[in-house]
Amino acid sequence: MPAFMEPFRIKAVEPIPFPTAGQRRTALAAAGYNLFRVPSRAITIDLLTDSGTNAMSAAQWAALISGDESYAGATSFENFQTVVRDLTGYDEVLPVHQGRAAERIVLGNLLGPGEVSISNTHFDTTRAAVEAAGATALDLPVEQTSPPSSFGGNIDLARLAERLNDDRVRCVVLTITNNAAGGQPVSIANVTSVRRLCDQYGVLLLLDAARFAENAYLISEREPEYAQRTPREIAQLVFTQADGCWASLKKDGIANIGGMIALRDPELARRCREQLIAFEGFPTYGGLAGRDLDALAQGLLEVTEPAYLEYRARSARWFGEQLEDAGLPVVQPTGCHAVYVDAARLLPHIEPHRLPATALANELYLAGAVRVSDLGTLVFGRAVPGEEDITAPRELVRFALPRRVYTKSHLEYVAEVAAAVAAKATQLNGYRITEQSASLRHFTAELMPL
Ligand code: F0G
Repeated sequence: MPAFMEPFRIKAVEPIPFPTAGQRRTALAAAGYNLFRVPSRAITIDLLTDSGTNAMSAAQWAALISGDESYAGATSFENFQTVVRDLTGYDEVLPVHQGRAAERIVLGNLLGPGEVSISNTHFDTTRAAVEAAGATALDLPVEQTSPPSSFGGNIDLARLAERLNDDRVRCVVLTITNNAAGGQPVSIANVTSVRRLCDQYGVLLLLDAARFAENAYLISEREPEYAQRTPREIAQLVFTQADGCWASLKKDGIANIGGMIALRDPELARRCREQLIAFEGFPTYGGLAGRDLDALAQGLLEVTEPAYLEYRARSARWFGEQLEDAGLPVVQPTGCHAVYVDAARLLPHIEPHRLPATALANELYLAGAVRVSDLGTLVFGRAVPGEEDITAPRELVRFALPRRVYTKSHLEYVAEVAAAVAAKATQLNGYRITEQSASLRHFTAELMPL
């Protein structure tokens, strides 16, 4: 197979900072050893997230200029609605400023105290929205096997069927791709089985569709029945199976802000729209500028282009190989939006309570001003007053890939930094949390090295 290359050329460039080792040490200490608190001017390569960090195309920048900023009934909304309806098949389209606003509105409407939402894995903001409604978020991911399954993002159907007997279950949420489970895809076979179960028990099936196009592409690669279908056709097929979706469009909208709710049920949409007006804005802009809606409409067309998605998957795979060669234990197979590394395997001498994922992420920063995100106990663990934290099931570090931003040579630099860190793995120490909030603690926590 020929080497992959970026299927675009660069029209506008942005210089990147190169802080010295001393500046990196100072910046990390000043940030309370929390990479979320490090300013971007002290970062060389920022792989913290693929959310809102994308580079827009020339066509998207052009779309911004034609944005209609009318408060009500803007043409930009009509453009956005047309694209979303065509993609999802859902008639009711509500723009929101980002994914978590959609989650609060939809889940706040559906769930009440004591009720249950089941998912392949609720993303952290989704879980927070379920819990804010007084309900319980239950994750039933398939077990990770060795060798790994092609669809490690699936929900466990046997356990789902068991839990659906509980009449407190109000919805099943399939997160595509499953971000918390290594960015792995959910298969069409899994979605259609979940549909059947939801019909049997009269429960709504909703998609958290932040990375719907990447999920579709991975289906075309890994689910043989769909090898001949285009990513757009596959995405449409997946949407057909559900009752509605929400999405953070900061991912597969290939823009810097935005989100949506799209539903079949006009009555649920009506209730959501009331809250949209109260918290986000009038239903034809929902917390976004008209120009954002136009850029998103264009991004949602570009994101299913086969050449773009093939490059996206191949660059993640290639980058995973580079990190593996550098000595990091990479979670296989790689998906599209990120490469995940198992910090517990690299740092077996740091027990989960001492935050091995944080230790690895911080060392990558110190070694080369590379910022990645910690998906270990700092994020998914739970503080218990007077006791040790409940630790996360896995200690992963995520190297997220912003869309169309970094080239192969930027990623080669990251692999070099990773090799330097892997070489001194046995000397790394853990961390302890000194300050934390009750919910989503990782964004603001302060830590101390041990
Ligand atoms: N759902 C999934 C699967 C996500 O990955 C995210 C965000 C959200 C919902 C929330 O959307 O940020 O627009 O409010 N994920 C980002 C990440 C933050 O880094 O993975 P949002």
